[in-house]
Formats: sequence, C-alpha cells, structure tokens
Amino acid sequence: MPLKVKNLKVEAASFPILKEVFWDVERGEITALVGESGSGKSISALTVLRLLPESLKVSGEVEADGVNPLELKGKELLSFRWERVAMVFQDPSSSLNPLLTVGEQIVEPMLYHGKVKSREEGRERAVELLKMCQVPKAEERFDAYPHQLSGGLKQRCAIAMALACNPSYLLADEPTTALDVTVQKRILELLKGLSKNENLGTLLITHDIGVVEEVSDRVFVLYAGYTVESGKTEDILRRPMHPYTKGLIECSPKLNGGVKRRLRAIPGSVPEPSERVEGCPFHPRCSKAKEVCRKEVPPIVKEGSRTFRCFFPEG
Ligand SMILES: Nc1ncnc2c1ncn2[C@@H]1O[C@H](COP(=O)(O)OP(=O)(O)OP(=O)(O)O)[C@@H](O)[C@H]1O
Ligand SMILES: [Mg+2]
Repeated sequence: MPLKVKNLKVEAASFPILKEVFWDVERGEITALVGESGSGKSISALTVLRLLPESLKVSGEVEADGVNPLELKGKELLSFRWERVAMVFQDPSSSLNPLLTVGEQIVEPMLYHGKVKSREEGRERAVELLKMCQVPKAEERFDAYPHQLSGGLKQRCAIAMALACNPSYLLADEPTTALDVTVQKRILELLKGLSKNENLGTLLITHDIGVVEEVSDRVFVLYAGYTVESGKTEDILRRPMHPYTKGLIECSPKLNGGVKRRLRAIPGSVPEPSERVEGCPFHPRCSKAKEVCRKEVPPIVKEGSRTFRCFFPEG
C-alpha cells in the first residue's frame, strides 16, 4: 500500500489552488513531482502532513499505508508526521533550530516517540543516522550547531533528523535547490541510496527535469493544479505525451542534447490560481491548441503504466 493522493482538491476562499492532483510513491523508490513554480507541488505535499493554513479547504483521497492523515488529531497526527511520513525542506536552515545542536534535534523526536529509552541510546542511534547520511566525523558533528556547518552538511543533518523515527516515506521539497551543483549531485545520490537500502519511499519535488532523469523511477508532472502526465521516468523522457512535458524537456540543457541544439523556452507562464482559464489550463501556451482545448478540460487518458491529460497528445 503506497503513499498516495488522488483527486486532490485544495481551495482558497474564492478560487481553487489544486483542481485534480494525483501522485503516489511506493516504498523503495523515488517518485519525482515536477512542474514550474506555482504548479502546486508544495501544496500537495503539505496537504499530506496537514501543514496547510486552516483557511484552505481540502478534499479528495490521501492515504499512507491505509492511514488517512486528514482524519487524524493530536498525538496520532504527530506520530504520523514522524513515524510514517517525514519532510525535508529546500532550505535546511529553516528546518533546523539554530539554538540546538544537530544531535539534540535528532534525539528529541526519538525520545518523544519512544524510539529510544535514554539520551545515551539516542546519541548512538543519531550518530548512526548521521553516518548513514554520509556526514563525515559524525561523532563530532553531533555536537555542532547548524551555523557551524556548510549548506550541504546542514541538508544531510536535516535528512538524518527526518529519518529519526524511521518513517516509511520522505517528502523532499526541492532539497537541493539551495545548494551548488556538485553538492546537489551528492545529496541526490544519498536520497537514491536511502530509498533503495532503507526501503524508503521518497517523493522528490523539483522544477528541474534534469534532476528527474538522474534519480527518479517514476514521475508526475503538475501544471496549474492538475496532474497532466505520469509514468515511468524513462518512458516519459523518451516520449512525452503532454506538450507541457515536452516543453519542460526542451528547456533542459542536459536533456536537450547539450550545446549543439537550441534551447527552447515555453512561452508565457503558469496562471495564478485566481486567474480563471477555461478549458485545458495549458492551452494559452500551447502551439497545438484547438477549439476544444479552449472549452473543455481534457480527461485523464490511461495507457498501460502511463497517464496524460491532453486532447492532442504528442508521441
Ligand atoms: N495560503 C494560500 N492562499 C492562496 N493561494 C496560495 C496559498 N498558498 C499557496 N498559494 C498559491 O498556490 C499555488 C501553488 O503553490 P505551491 O507552493 O504548491 O507551488 P509550487 O509548485 O510548490 O511552486 P514552487 O516551485 O515555486 O515552490 C501558487 O500560485 C501559490 O501562490
Ligand atoms: Mg514549492
């Protein structure tokens, strides 16, 4: 039983933000969630952990191994957040407390959730986790404050903290965007290793389709509050069906074949949720749009293990 959202809708007071989002993650794999800024990637992940503002109305199916977090309260919700699904954010400084050593921050949730019986046992386990996240000199780093560590090391510690209570799933929201390219590569390798070796299901949120290619087994493409395409990464990158996915691939220097080919850009930008777009949300930017695309939202088409939402698919 995976972690999944299905038919997910999130509404602000006067306009919808997510209209129909679905994605799922199996344990032991990395699923990528890709789309431009404003497409709804973070909102859909935050919904799973119930971290959205109260003012937003959520409906649809959310489930992690048979448990629906939308029905949980108090201590049950807290244990869902640490023991079933944990999260890593873009900027490690915002997930780590500057006043506590990284070690203390890893041990605290372990003690609270009864994963260890004493601080000493917590220290041992935390050092193991830091080592697993390839933090060099883990025993020493246990006593370091976040400001004493580089960005890459801080992100490794934030990942170790997310794993403190041995969750089944990890939501990683742009975990490498704030880091330089070489560090980014190593963190991605770490996440890949953790998924395979620790049987962790990882949802990797990114706007970079190059990252998708590098680490993910499957991919879900989001656009303006809709999942517009999904499938195995290999299939999608080789033969995208949705013009938006094709556009994302053509914008990527790496996937576009290096310097020899001209890089394209998708014209226009993702509409704000408050802008009403009739029909297919992508039609104003799509060179293939026809009359029907301006009037109706295309339904999801299923073809084997892949899905797409387009009246005139590529391929
Ligand atoms: N509390 C809120 N009220 C109204 N609109 C919101 C609220 N929070 C987010 N939004 C809007 O919802 C849309 C989706 O936001 P989200 O943060 O999920 O995008 P994203 O895909 O994660 O983008 P990015 O790549 O920039 O992180 C955005 O247009 C954002 O402005
Ligand atoms: Mg985001």
